[in-house]
Amino acid sequence: MKIGVVGLGYVGVPLAVAFCEAGHSVIGVDADRARVDALARGESHVEDIPDARLREVLPRFQPTVRYAELSRAEAVIIAVPTPLTPNREPDLGPLTASATALATVLQRGQLVVLESTTYPGYTRERLVPLLEESGLAAGSDFNVAFSPERVDPGRTDYTLRTTPKVVGGLTPECRERAVAMYRAVCDEVVPVSTPDAAELTKLLENIFRSVNIALVNEIAIMCDRMGIDVWEVVDAASTKPYGFMRFEPGPGMGGHCLPVDPFYLSWRAREFDVQTEFIELAGEVNARMPHFCVEKITRALNEHTKPVRGSRIAVLGVSYKSGISDLREAPALKIIRLLTEQGGTIAYHDDFVPELSEFGLTSEPFDDVLDHCDVAVIVTVHPGLDVDKLLERAPLVVDFRGATAGSTAANLVRL
Ligand SMILES: NC(=O)c1ccc[n+]([C@@H]2O[C@H](COP(=O)([O-])OP(=O)(O)OC[C@H]3O[C@@H](n4cnc5c(N)ncnc54)[C@H](O)[C@@H]3O)[C@@H](O)[C@H]2O)c1
Repeated sequence: MKIGVVGLGYVGVPLAVAFCEAGHSVIGVDADRARVDALARGESHVEDIPDARLREVLPRFQPTVRYAELSRAEAVIIAVPTPLTPNREPDLGPLTASATALATVLQRGQLVVLESTTYPGYTRERLVPLLEESGLAAGSDFNVAFSPERVDPGRTDYTLRTTPKVVGGLTPECRERAVAMYRAVCDEVVPVSTPDAAELTKLLENIFRSVNIALVNEIAIMCDRMGIDVWEVVDAASTKPYGFMRFEPGPGMGGHCLPVDPFYLSWRAREFDVQTEFIELAGEVNARMPHFCVEKITRALNEHTKPVRGSRIAVLGVSYKSGISDLREAPALKIIRLLTEQGGTIAYHDDFVPELSEFGLTSEPFDDVLDHCDVAVIVTVHPGLDVDKLLERAPLVVDFRGATAGSTAANLVRL
């Protein structure tokens, strides 16, 4: 097969590489010329795809900025961003731009599959009319399906191949074509009756996580008042062999998905006079966590008779999760901003993030960042974090990730 992939990011690049590794060829289109040029040189910006793996498939992978190349593909997968506007409503700009451009080169007989996370109804109501600007009719002249992406950057136990892939087609034929295509790269494909069902499946999965994280975050705030160790409680509850699923508290949600996707559903639900109070409450609780963390740092410094103003605060780990460089919606950024506003002096260490240009900061070596700090704050635990050294070197440690669970060091404060 010759497959087109539009949007060469965290989703598009692994997908393109997977199809190439399965022996197919891929035309990858991205609006960012620098990104396209780097990929063509064999330089990957996605941690899950090391340069060597990308280079292996380059003979079959053609990154380009030209949509016209897609006219030669049998199927085109769209994986462009679906962010929010400043007032937290779906920003459909990238989706509209990519579908409009694709319509100008769409060919009879092609299959178009949307993978970008979106609200139920988008594929049928918005994507199809945009593609039909081509003069071709969806369902008869070309096929359309929605298949949500389940990639979890940095994860190695479940891959694209071993994670079941949900597919909903506009017609039964659309679904069958999409199922057949994904069978080339996924061991299990799960057909559902409509694109809407597939769209909502993705949102349910992410909202399930958001709600459960909010619940355990609320318990963490309560434990703080009650003087109970939330990590001990989570560990103990996790010993129940059924009816409980482990979620961990933390400094707040980050990434492209969890802080963003629930708003796509609550926005859509309003059109149907449905208030998604539960979903919105979870978002609010999680959004409050960076503020709670700053309060906790302030209290810890106060115990050491220090104000935030003038204190040197070392932040350990700034990307939104372990083992990757993604800074989107990272709670560390909010924490740094709030502490800076209060007059704190920030330094940070993160092997995955060499600079934080918005704060004019560069990552300092682990030892240096601990030198002369008044407090070290664990926001994200990357592999290899030396917790013992940290507790030994820093006069005060505040841990929002449970990295120090079990330790009773006198200079330690834990969420
Ligand atoms: N990152 C994840 O872990 C993840 C997981 C599941 C689902 N998703 C969803 O997948 C979609 C893509 O996310 P991502 O993390 O890969 O985003 P990304 O920002 O990493 O990559 C998107 C790419 O699309 C390109 N692009 C933007 N507009 C374009 C256009 N009009 N034409 C061509 N290219 C364009 C950008 O330059 C960028 O390279 C989103 O809807 C996201 O919600 C992401």
